[in-house]
Amino acid sequence: MPLRPLRSLARGLRGAAGPGPGVLLSTPIFYANAPPHIGHLYSALLADALHRHRRLRGAAPGRLSTGTDEHGLKIQQAAVAAGVSPPQLCAQVSGLFRQALTQAAVSFTDFIRTSEPRHQRAVQHFWAALQDRGALYKGSYEGWYCTPEECFLPESQLADRRDTQGRMCKVSLETGHQVHWTKEENYMFRLSEFQEPLQKWLRDNPRVISPVPFYQQVLHWLEEDLPDLSVSRERSRLQWGIPVPSDPTQTIYVWVDALVNYLSVVGYPETHSEWWPAAHHVVGKDILKFHAVYWPALLMAAGLAPPERICVHSHWTVHGQKMSKSLGNVIDPVSCFGKYTVDGFRYFLLRQGVPERDCDYYDEKVVKLVNSELADALGGLLNRSTALSINPSNTYPCFSESCFPKISDYDGTQALSRASSEDYELVASVASLPLQVASHFEGFQIYKALECIALCVRETNGFFQRHKPWKLDRKDPAEKLWLDTIIHITLECLRVYGTLLQPVIPNIADKLLSRLSVEPEERSLLNLTFLPRYNGKPCPFEGRQLGPDTGILFHRLEKSRQSQMENKRL
Ligand code: MSP
Repeated sequence: MPLRPLRSLARGLRGAAGPGPGVLLSTPIFYANAPPHIGHLYSALLADALHRHRRLRGAAPGRLSTGTDEHGLKIQQAAVAAGVSPPQLCAQVSGLFRQALTQAAVSFTDFIRTSEPRHQRAVQHFWAALQDRGALYKGSYEGWYCTPEECFLPESQLADRRDTQGRMCKVSLETGHQVHWTKEENYMFRLSEFQEPLQKWLRDNPRVISPVPFYQQVLHWLEEDLPDLSVSRERSRLQWGIPVPSDPTQTIYVWVDALVNYLSVVGYPETHSEWWPAAHHVVGKDILKFHAVYWPALLMAAGLAPPERICVHSHWTVHGQKMSKSLGNVIDPVSCFGKYTVDGFRYFLLRQGVPERDCDYYDEKVVKLVNSELADALGGLLNRSTALSINPSNTYPCFSESCFPKISDYDGTQALSRASSEDYELVASVASLPLQVASHFEGFQIYKALECIALCVRETNGFFQRHKPWKLDRKDPAEKLWLDTIIHITLECLRVYGTLLQPVIPNIADKLLSRLSVEPEERSLLNLTFLPRYNGKPCPFEGRQLGPDTGILFHRLEKSRQSQMENKRL
């Protein structure tokens, strides 16, 4: 039977995945024109899970920045429509984002609003750096402007449609939003001069954009024409924005303004070099070009290095459709926390979301997944293995080498050995799990890490079921050794799962680890050694009293009334 070695797990973890230097992880900053939806939350959860995972791996303290993108025509128009001033609208919506992210347990260290003076200073300084280095010139610009996307679009990305009054109009091919012909005097950024430097940057850093298809997509964009970029708007059309420092008739383009948030949070222009360029941006695929083409070019032009990493994710659709206010299918994360709990919903989005492709959302899918993996598999396993009926002393029981001899020592003659080859396979799978999980987090494939954990949880349930510890007689000394060993192994597996799940379901993981009496300082990924007794090492948990909270780990969710009714209708 081929077995993977259990040795040097901790050494392997240190070597492959940490601890590393502190990095600035970032979410995109969210437009302050409408409340948060689950797509925004997904961007933030991915960044949060990466941040928490790095921290657990013992990396130097990092930062997680988020915030709101508050300037631009889109916000100016939304404020007019809502009958409030732009600052009022932004304060209100920014508050909603801050609240939702806090409620979602997103462990941000910085929350930036682009309307803050510290940001305005950073943007104006950045602009001056571009100007001083000759990266800007004034020119006349005309083209089709898409306000919801806040960018000019080339003819190749447009289609002809009829508007609601039946008049012909042009719309963005990708989003369907109407575009408007705009002609004005703008400052232009010499983007075209950065085509080669950008290509070189990507060639020299093949892992800078993940997953790979997005890296290739950017390389492909860079093979096409790369025209200069308009980076300001006439102030008469756009007042809600940061003025160009030496020209009050112009407002800085909202995307330049927004991208600089990553520098303002680290104290640009004074203290940014403590962090920059150790920046890892998590972004949705719709804003990849801004982050992987415009942003690195702007940084190079201002004399700064491009970010270290860009992690890209795809989108959530709802019942197969794009989420939109007009379709009325926007899913509010806060109501999801109410229905599925914060951890339940975090688990769902991170377990089901695959960065490479769009994922579809519907309520029943959440209920089914979290019930089966969190309530039944994980919660059930904890419940069964800690039940007073099989573990009346409520302690972490002892492991017996004679019942479960080390495979290399086992000569088939030990009378007490009860372990089967499947049991050894389980032990090998769980021993290699932390490394596997670390490498999936590194590769921005958190869903794969969760898939591996879920698989091991299932195997552990199989182990428990196979040996039916409830049928063993505790009064018989030989049976007791085996019974304790089964429980010990199961609790060891649960300890590994609880530790590894902390970045994704922090509350449930805390409850699980507390029940197993794992102290806060024993929850790091660095010292995570699974089943040390199997390797002849002492186990600090043996004999410990288990934690007092014997409550259900995760309560099964009821199918919502509405989805039950929808099912009946189908
Ligand atoms: N303000 C810009 C970002 C500036 S960053 C310097 C912006 N804001 S946004 O509010 O429209 O989007 C924020 C994030 O949410 C983006 O990563 C975007 O991809 C993500 N999502 C928006 N809709 C989404 C889905 N339906 N599904 C998943 N994520 C999506 O763009």
